[in-house]
Amino acid sequence: MSGIEVRVLADETAVAAAAAGMCAAWLRRRPNAVLGLATGSTPVPTYSELVRMHREEGLSFAQARTFNLDEYFGLSGEHEQSYRFFMQQHLFNHVDVRPYNTFLFDGTVPDPEQECLAFEAKIRALGGVDLWLLGIGGNGHIAFNEPGSDPESRSRVVAPNPETVAANSRYFAHPSLVPQLALTVGLATISEGRSIALLATGAQKAATVARAVEGPCSPDCPASLLQNHPDCAFLLDQAAASHLTARVSRERS
Ligand code: PGA
Repeated sequence: MSGIEVRVLADETAVAAAAAGMCAAWLRRRPNAVLGLATGSTPVPTYSELVRMHREEGLSFAQARTFNLDEYFGLSGEHEQSYRFFMQQHLFNHVDVRPYNTFLFDGTVPDPEQECLAFEAKIRALGGVDLWLLGIGGNGHIAFNEPGSDPESRSRVVAPNPETVAANSRYFAHPSLVPQLALTVGLATISEGRSIALLATGAQKAATVARAVEGPCSPDCPASLLQNHPDCAFLLDQAAASHLTARVSRERS
């Protein structure tokens, strides 16, 4: 029986409001909360909503600490397709988070394995992640944990699957420019988060969401491993929820 709480929301805007609301709830309860953040197209409206809450409602990130799920190997934070650049552009530059409290893998280090060990140690030193925001890949990946990843995996260097490289090539001038290696937190790193919110919007995610929620709990679909997490919610718009067969409550917003 899946332990995933499924929340079906009206649209992408409502998903963003719900996800931002979960971040804000942590920050109000614990101003120095540790937020785990994702890149990709899905969380962009969530970051816009957090920026709005900061400007209009006084939501403060002044004591917050953030970790990101992944980063391309070989790209510096100044590269426009790096995940550091994405986070600066969509969130960090627009709120009062302290730069020294934002942690992403450095994709330019000479020893990426050491960088991964240091990242895990930093998460532990700050007391663990309170809330991971996740997206989901078409093949069920979370972060760059592709199908077949070990549920006990930790931060490491990986080679994303060809379908993931192809999906991400939409952001690059040419597919050959997409880095072939990345640094990612592991499935164990994610599952140790106190709470998890996976966001999915659009019909192209519907079949994968159904596999993750209602399919077998298996590394073949890494997101399905979240079925074992005690506090995991999937925040879905109507389209992303459209392949779920079980009765799910649809929230009005
Ligand atoms: P997307 O990426 O939000 O751009 O769809 C999700 C992912 O690959 O994890």
